[in-house]
Amino acid sequence: MYDTVSTLRENNLISGFNLAGPGEQPDIEYHPDATKYHARTALRLQQDPELVNTPLPSGFPSKVEGPIVWEGKQWTDEKQWVYELSEVELKEIDNAVKHFQGLNLPLGHINPTTFPLPTLSPTLHALSKELYSGRGFFVLRTLPVDTYSKLQTAISFAGISSHVGPLRGRQSGDNAVFAHIKDLRATHNLKEIGNAAYTTDAQVFHTDAGDLIALLALEVAAEGGTSRISSSWRIYNDIAENRPDLIATLADKWVLDSFGGDPPYSQRPLLFHEDGNIILQYSRRHFTGYLSQKRNPEIPAITEAQAEALDAIHYTAEKHSLALNFQKGDMQFINSLGLVHARDAFRDDENKTRHLIRLWLRNEDLAWKTPAALQHIWDKLYKLKPDEQNFPLEPEIRKKAGGVAK
Ligand SMILES: [Fe+2]
Repeated sequence: MYDTVSTLRENNLISGFNLAGPGEQPDIEYHPDATKYHARTALRLQQDPELVNTPLPSGFPSKVEGPIVWEGKQWTDEKQWVYELSEVELKEIDNAVKHFQGLNLPLGHINPTTFPLPTLSPTLHALSKELYSGRGFFVLRTLPVDTYSKLQTAISFAGISSHVGPLRGRQSGDNAVFAHIKDLRATHNLKEIGNAAYTTDAQVFHTDAGDLIALLALEVAAEGGTSRISSSWRIYNDIAENRPDLIATLADKWVLDSFGGDPPYSQRPLLFHEDGNIILQYSRRHFTGYLSQKRNPEIPAITEAQAEALDAIHYTAEKHSLALNFQKGDMQFINSLGLVHARDAFRDDENKTRHLIRLWLRNEDLAWKTPAALQHIWDKLYKLKPDEQNFPLEPEIRKKAGGVAK
């Protein structure tokens, strides 16, 4: 099933690749390299063929089931996950925007009461259930972003989203609940950029912090930028069956670089089995660095097992992924506890500059139990009071959120 060291040598794929010595950072970058992945796997299994017989960690099932266990190929028609907003529903949204503007309240007060959607609200509640106990994603189409001002767009996106997940997460040190996903290299200091979200580069599979991610496309790229999602539960089943040792690795403690934060790193597992739910929470850049944010050489290196596990997640996610056809005015909602996501590299031009607004949401009534090791992060995310919430209407690079490790 796996390539052997001799097979890789015959094909000249393993020369020059070596496993790191104890305490050394493995040869791994933010962008996965399939040749290195296969070489690492072959060398590790040659060193210890019994790895594949490692028992799963205590409490972890051999297989999980449910509607969130899916493969991209089973979704054949986007009607299966795209909900088209009707004229009546769009009018209801428009009325709610005007209603909220008439209240003269700060945007942090947007909630299902101040942004009333009499007929759409039950639909959005059902779709929220789809996030937490169904397939884990849906798309709403289409918000008329060209006819709204930036403020009205912000109100409508936050308002609609409040019926899906009333709690908005803090995404930066200055209490911003909006993040702008856009190539900022031309307008911002490159030294500040440590996240592919602010470039046209591909973003590899990862999760964001928090329960739910909502993305609104203000504009799409001239070319590329496809969003991809994959079921963490399906990934789990694959790895648990073939490489239970990597499940043990993922469920053990990892050293996450806080990139200049204090303390310089945090430690926690990336994978949890909590209250019957498989939860994966990780971003590869914390272990490999990205652009100006290099992995801090002063903090403990990751292990070869961890390097292999990062690639195992990425390539398994890719194998089972679904590409979403994100259009201008679309709102994409995903469960970031049970799905991973990625996006392709893209190219902007003078007419089309990819620009998304992101919210992190939570629906307390439907939410999964938060693992204890993540609770301190969730406390920093979801404890913002309405008057504390900041809604930047223009793109900015997020400031560090007090050691919140995404
Ligand atoms: Fe993300």
